[in-house]
Amino acid sequence: MKRSAPTNKSGKSPIKKRNQSKAQRQVPVSRSTKQDWKPGTMIYPLPAVLVSCGSQPEEYNLITVAWTGTLCTNPPMCYISVQPKRHSYDILKKNMEFVINLTTEQMARATDWCGVRSGRDYNKFEEMGLTMGQASVVHCPIIEESPINIECKVREITHLGSHDMFIAEVVNVRADEQYIDETGKFKLTDAKPLVYLHGGYYGLGEFIGKFGWSVQKKKKQ
Ligand SMILES: Cc1cc2nc3c(=O)[nH]c(=O)nc-3n(C[C@H](O)[C@H](O)[C@H](O)COP(=O)(O)O)c2cc1C
Repeated sequence: MKRSAPTNKSGKSPIKKRNQSKAQRQVPVSRSTKQDWKPGTMIYPLPAVLVSCGSQPEEYNLITVAWTGTLCTNPPMCYISVQPKRHSYDILKKNMEFVINLTTEQMARATDWCGVRSGRDYNKFEEMGLTMGQASVVHCPIIEESPINIECKVREITHLGSHDMFIAEVVNVRADEQYIDETGKFKLTDAKPLVYLHGGYYGLGEFIGKFGWSVQKKKKQ
C-alpha cells in the first residue's frame, strides 16, 4: 500500500516537495573504499568507567569497564557487561549492587591500571591512591575523585556469551559540587572526562554544538 505523506493541522504536508525529476532523485550507490570485517563491536568512542563493588571492606574492589551504557531514561536504567572470570564478577553477583564512577583525564592511569590488575592480588584503591567515599543508597564505596558516582542496583543478569550483562536501576547519583556553577548547571566538561576509543584513551575534542543546534533558527541581527 502506498503511504500518504503526513499532514499538519491545516491538512498541508510539512514535507517540502522538491522540483526534481525521477532521474535526478536517484542517488548513486558507491562501493569503492570500504572493507568487510568479521562481525565485532566497533561502537566507539565509549567512556571507560571505574566500577566499584563490594559491601564489606574485605571485598571492596574496582574494575575498569568500557562495555557500559544507558538503557532507559525513566526508570533510569543502565548496564555493565562483565566476564565471569573477573574477580569482581562474584562480588557483583553476590551483592547485586555497584557504583559507576565516571573517569577523568587525571584518572587515566588509575583507569588503565585497574583494568589490567586484579583485586585478587591488589587493593586497587590503595595502589592508585584513590579516596574511598560513602555512597548514599548502596553499600559499595564510591571514588571521591570521580565527578559523578552513579549508584546502581542490579535488576537482571543476562548471560550473553563472553560477557554477562548486569542490567541495573540507578538509585542515586552523587555529583561533585566543584563542577556546579553559580546558576546550578553541572559542567561535566570542566572535569575533562576520559574517552576510550578502539584501545586508546583520549580527552574530549572541541565543542561543536548543543543538542538541536542543527535545526535551530538563526537569530535575526
Ligand atoms: C579500558 C578497559 C576496558 C575494560 N572493559 C571491560 C568490560 O567492559 N568488561 C570486563 O569484563 N572487563 C573489562 N576490562 C578488563 C577488566 O577491567 C580487567 O580484567 C580487570 O583486571 C578485572 O579486575 P578484577 O579481576 O579485579 O575484577 C577492561 C579493561 C580496560 C583496560
